[in-house]
Amino acid sequence: MDPVFYPGSFDPITYGHIDIIERAIKVFGFVRVVIMDNPKKSTLFTVDERIDLIRECLSPITSNFEAEKHDGLLVDYCEKTGIYTAIRGLRALTDFDYEFQMALTNKALNDKVESVLFIANVKHTFLSSSLVKEIAQFDGDISEFVPPLVAQKLKAKLII
Ligand code: PNS
Repeated sequence: MDPVFYPGSFDPITYGHIDIIERAIKVFGFVRVVIMDNPKKSTLFTVDERIDLIRECLSPITSNFEAEKHDGLLVDYCEKTGIYTAIRGLRALTDFDYEFQMALTNKALNDKVESVLFIANVKHTFLSSSLVKEIAQFDGDISEFVPPLVAQKLKAKLII
């Protein structure tokens, strides 16, 4: 089976991401979770904090993953590692345009790149890191959306 990676911002990782990772591990055996480091995109957590959160949240569940960062184009990650299959989650129709555009752009840049889309669990169709940050900012309850460690780190970040 071809190795796969899961690119994203993961700012921060949510139960939606974790669901996709667990299901992708069932299908592919092992998943590399890759934070695409874009210095122009403002994020709440640094790239290293996001990697630590991914590792700490996934380690109790599975050892069939690796978390790393990549600075540059997705196709460059593929060339660098020899891993050409990217998995992504599709929450709702509103995600489709964006995912379709990314998949076709990556294919145009390098024909070897394949995109595999997992349909998000219905429980997570509305869930996004941005909304979780917004709820946390107003001290709302995010316990259904992110693991306790992420909730704790979010609160700590937002209080400072
Ligand atoms: O979690 P996100 O923010 O929806 O993930 C988007 C991401 C990081 C996968 C996408 O922006 C990406 O692949 N960035 C790397 C830069 C790149 O290759 N851009 C051109 C391909 S569309």
